[in-house]
Amino acid sequence: MSPPSSTDLKKTKSKKNKDHHYTDVHGLPCIEKIVASVDETPEAISTNISGTIPEWISGNFLRNGPGKFEIGNNKFNHWFDGMALLHQFKIAGGQVTYKSRFLGSDCYTANSENSRIVVSEFGTVAMPDPCKNFFQRFLSRFELPKASDNDNVSFVTYKGDYYVSTETNFMHKVDPETLETKEKVDWSKFIAVNGATAHPHTDPDGTTYNMGNSYSAKGAIYNIIRVPPTRTMPENPKETLEGATVVCSIPSVDKARPSYYHSFAMSENYVVFIEQPIKMDLLKIVTGKLRGKGISDGIYWDPKLETIFHLINKQTGKLNSVKYHAKALSTFHQINAWEEDGFLVMDLCAADDGKAINNYIVQNMRKSGEALDEVYNTMCRVFPRRFVLPLNADKETPSGQNLNTRPDSTATATKTAKDKVFCTHEDLHDEELHTYGGLEFPQINYAKYNTKPYRYFYGCGFRHLVGDTLIKMDLQGKKMKVWEHPGLYPSEPVFVPLPGATEEDDGVIMSVVITPNKDKSTFLLVLDAKTFKELGRAEVPVNIPYGFHGTFNSTMTHRRCDSKFLASINMSSNSLTCEASIAALSL
Ligand SMILES: [Fe+2]
Repeated sequence: MSPPSSTDLKKTKSKKNKDHHYTDVHGLPCIEKIVASVDETPEAISTNISGTIPEWISGNFLRNGPGKFEIGNNKFNHWFDGMALLHQFKIAGGQVTYKSRFLGSDCYTANSENSRIVVSEFGTVAMPDPCKNFFQRFLSRFELPKASDNDNVSFVTYKGDYYVSTETNFMHKVDPETLETKEKVDWSKFIAVNGATAHPHTDPDGTTYNMGNSYSAKGAIYNIIRVPPTRTMPENPKETLEGATVVCSIPSVDKARPSYYHSFAMSENYVVFIEQPIKMDLLKIVTGKLRGKGISDGIYWDPKLETIFHLINKQTGKLNSVKYHAKALSTFHQINAWEEDGFLVMDLCAADDGKAINNYIVQNMRKSGEALDEVYNTMCRVFPRRFVLPLNADKETPSGQNLNTRPDSTATATKTAKDKVFCTHEDLHDEELHTYGGLEFPQINYAKYNTKPYRYFYGCGFRHLVGDTLIKMDLQGKKMKVWEHPGLYPSEPVFVPLPGATEEDDGVIMSVVITPNKDKSTFLLVLDAKTFKELGRAEVPVNIPYGFHGTFNSTMTHRRCDSKFLASINMSSNSLTCEASIAALSL
């Protein structure tokens, strides 16, 4: 059965919802193999190339995601729970090899040794050891949940080193060449936080910012974290997060029910914490084991609440007293943010409903027919939006008038109380994006345009539970370019700049395309970022599940990509920087 076309989707949009954010589609193809367990491929294998992989691309395209959904007779419940499988597409001289390795986490080792799930994950609670007696098993249900080190969300960099991350307090350093698991890192050993997001942001000098919660008798606290750009002891390769500090701490108004956040926005001078109405019921979470429920059972959407944007000055750590409010929205990924003419412009992917997270259970993703359509149609579509926050609003600012005087945006910002500005967004798309199911997994030319005015972003269209198209959005005119093919499911697109690039979209887009209904034909896709036309693909003769996030680790100038060098040319040390550095220096 072929997937519904854009025209079908347009025709079948629900007429009940004027914003068209829910669908009424029928006939979605089953994609159950997208969450099928696979074996690792630890030795590099060659790929079958069609078209042309540009010879200037030299490096490792690294991807992370779940790769094992069963341990013995136990099954993980939620998509986010599968054991982390790390993928590497090594690209050099127009050729591509592939390898993958399961992360050597403590939970992977313990699960493997016991042939059952022994560490609880987001949506899966580990059952008591059947070898214990009844009383011991009963008591074990009262233990507090232990944090998992199953870092299956993203590849990130700190001080130029590569890590895999999830949202607990544990990360692992990973060798991007061998995919070997190295140091296990516990954030709480360095600063008073109980975790950090898998989406840090990096400043041009390599300083990295992140956010993480801490919990005390006074309740939950949101913390802004800073990690220095270089090792405190340059000769110590085992150094990890030494020197990390908490820049600012923000107490949750509801002490026992803080907001869940997957990421945050960052401009040149501010971190923007988005306190959204996806809430975490801490009591439910800590008693989950007792009730046989995972952490996901304690996550809920409260549409009665507004969304609050908190601004934190990166240099002073001062929390802005003015709060920017918006109607209830959920957001997982930010696109970009920058300051200009007294405004902070913030682009993000958002939905009017925050219940989707609990729909991504493995059982739902393996459904077919009407049951699958129903899962999809109950999920609110996600769209790119812009908010414009007036930075100069204070007690003298008059109420009741739109403070957004920028002529290029229809977003509004109106002072409604002493320290409150209420904001409405501008849609960063036109009607056409509705026919592609909205957009998620946004990416930009990060190395040169993060925290700066920009023109293009890229993402996946979502006419299914996972991405089924790749989209390039031109913010000048909000025009789209689309790559699509029935039966193919591309993952998050990553932009890699052309050496010597002069224009924002000079480069390529890379994406791993999954073929759930065709065996062993997953491929690395390379598109010309400017035209969005396919340049080439490298087909891998193994099956790969759909993953979450990744990055490109350039090896072209690897030896020169130390933080001191990058700082000297005022570029960031994130994973895309080597290419951008070349561009900056016109090497
Ligand atoms: Fe993410």
